[in-house]
Amino acid sequence: MDTDTPTTGQVILVGGGPGDPDLLTIGGLRALREADVVLYDHLAPLACLDQTRPGVTLIDVGKIPRGCQTAQTDINALLIDHARRGRTVVRFKGGDPFVLGRGSEEWLACAEAGIPIRVIPGVSSAIAGPELAGIPLTHRGITQNFSVVSGHVGPDHPASTVNWDALAQSTGTIVILMGVAHLPEICTGLTSRGLDGDTPAAIVAKAALPDQQVVRGTVATLPALADAADIQPPALTVIGAVVALGLAPVG
Ligand SMILES: C[S@@+](CC[C@H](N)C(=O)[O-])C[C@H]1O[C@@H](n2cnc3c(N)ncnc32)[C@H](O)[C@@H]1O
Repeated sequence: MDTDTPTTGQVILVGGGPGDPDLLTIGGLRALREADVVLYDHLAPLACLDQTRPGVTLIDVGKIPRGCQTAQTDINALLIDHARRGRTVVRFKGGDPFVLGRGSEEWLACAEAGIPIRVIPGVSSAIAGPELAGIPLTHRGITQNFSVVSGHVGPDHPASTVNWDALAQSTGTIVILMGVAHLPEICTGLTSRGLDGDTPAAIVAKAALPDQQVVRGTVATLPALADAADIQPPALTVIGAVVALGLAPVG
């Protein structure tokens, strides 16, 4: 590490939105343009990296499910090390950094190391994904609340801290991220806990990207329909009466 840099840099957590560069905020774009170093994930809108300045250091710390990964401790160490060299470091993430995105872990690691850190919120796929598929998460007279949960493990897995019993009884919309691999057990787990199998449900894959896919069905039918459509991550599942609204673009 250099020892001749007297000033500490900073870390900025930037939420990049679900993938379409148009959904990056103006503040996020400004931070990218001013960055000395950018650590980016694969779900961030990578086309926006073109906006970085000449000489910027771009570091791919992408986490592909079951693929190449950079350990979270190594990412934290990189953020701290580059900031200690006096650099402005942007941590460029998909969606919003604090929605199932480990941004808060990175914040705490930097704060503990005495590194100035701030966050620029992003448009979460949890909201934008359903919306771009014509599904509002709330609709007056139908649903007044929604839950966003992780499906990285199924309802009966000991590592799941989600209250699946409460979700199955809820009248609100349910949005499940990271749940493609466990979709059958998630749907079965919800119906076995009391959710009506006829509840409208949809899976939205690659939302906001040119190859966005939407599959609609019910909680009972969605796993087979998603399998038949060969749905691959990134994808999210939406369950609830609002799915039946199916708002289509007009004009
Ligand atoms: C680790 S979580 C990060 C979520 C992110 N922080 C956010 O706010 O969107 C990754 C999951 O988000 C969802 N996701 C992210 N981008 C998506 C996209 N463009 N289309 C559909 N789902 C997406 C998928 O469920 C994916 O497995």
